[in-house]
Amino acid sequence: MVEVEKFIEKSVSEIDEEIDGDAMIALSGGVDSSVCAELAYRAIGDKLYPVFVDTGLMRKGEVAQIKETFSHMNLRVVEARDRFVGELEGVVDPEEKRHVVGREFIRIFEEVAREFDIEYLIQGTIYPDKIESEGGIKSHHNVGGLPERIDFKSIVEPVEDLYKDEVREVGRALELPETITERMPFPGPGLGVRIIGEVNEEKLSVVREANAVVEEEIMDLEPWQAFAALLSRGTGVKGDKRIHGWIIAIRAVESRDGMTARAMDVPMERLKKIGQRITREIDEVSRVVYDVTDKPPGTIEYE
Ligand code: XMP
Repeated sequence: MVEVEKFIEKSVSEIDEEIDGDAMIALSGGVDSSVCAELAYRAIGDKLYPVFVDTGLMRKGEVAQIKETFSHMNLRVVEARDRFVGELEGVVDPEEKRHVVGREFIRIFEEVAREFDIEYLIQGTIYPDKIESEGGIKSHHNVGGLPERIDFKSIVEPVEDLYKDEVREVGRALELPETITERMPFPGPGLGVRIIGEVNEEKLSVVREANAVVEEEIMDLEPWQAFAALLSRGTGVKGDKRIHGWIIAIRAVESRDGMTARAMDVPMERLKKIGQRITREIDEVSRVVYDVTDKPPGTIEYE
């Protein structure tokens, strides 16, 4: 987009015109909501309430990064780790898991909107989301149910006509950090869908650390997505002891839009290095496997 600066200028003035009161935006850590927050902040300043929920399901370092990036704004961080992990206790069905996470998000945003009497909602919907939702494929938005619960005066979607790469470009022009503009897709239910079965603090901590190793060691190969998932338990031997530790899967895929994907041809040497690091650095892990499944028949995420 040659006209990034023009887009920014136009968008900021449109938001300013459309919003006459306090507005809320749910930050996910992703590029779409981040760009919208920055555009809206330029338009309405402290009348913008960016809300970020620390679900405990985010990647290593991500919460601190978000707090820092948006520290110049009237940012509300809702510490909800116990709430999410508590609600997820005993939940093993993948759909139920997603439902629980989505419901908690909505409840929290509803609480904030009511507490501050917020009249406007800003959403980071992008063009492909609109097409997919209209086609009934899937709703990407964790706050998609919010407008049904609260009668907002209006819902503003500043990047609704843009494709992802255009949003990234706007993000760069807004000088958002690279960790945001170049961020891989990350599901709303976060690490929760990268743990098979029940989610708890121990599994979250293991998968979060393993994921950090995968990202450190693989991102130069430029995958569409690369991450760690926690599968189940398996026997291993560490030192002179047999352990019944966790099995971690490494997933790295190439894709254009996430609708289909190919398991990446990561060199064996690299995979072994990642496996060695994960088993050495995380006591509770006994084994590391590489997922060779394309989509279809697999999905990118595990649940
Ligand atoms: P699957 O696992 O269905 O994922 O092959 C396709 C793409 O969508 C992402 N994904 C999600 N994104 N909320 C999101 O915002 C979700 O609940 C969700 N589930 C999957 C996934 O990371 C991949 O890029």
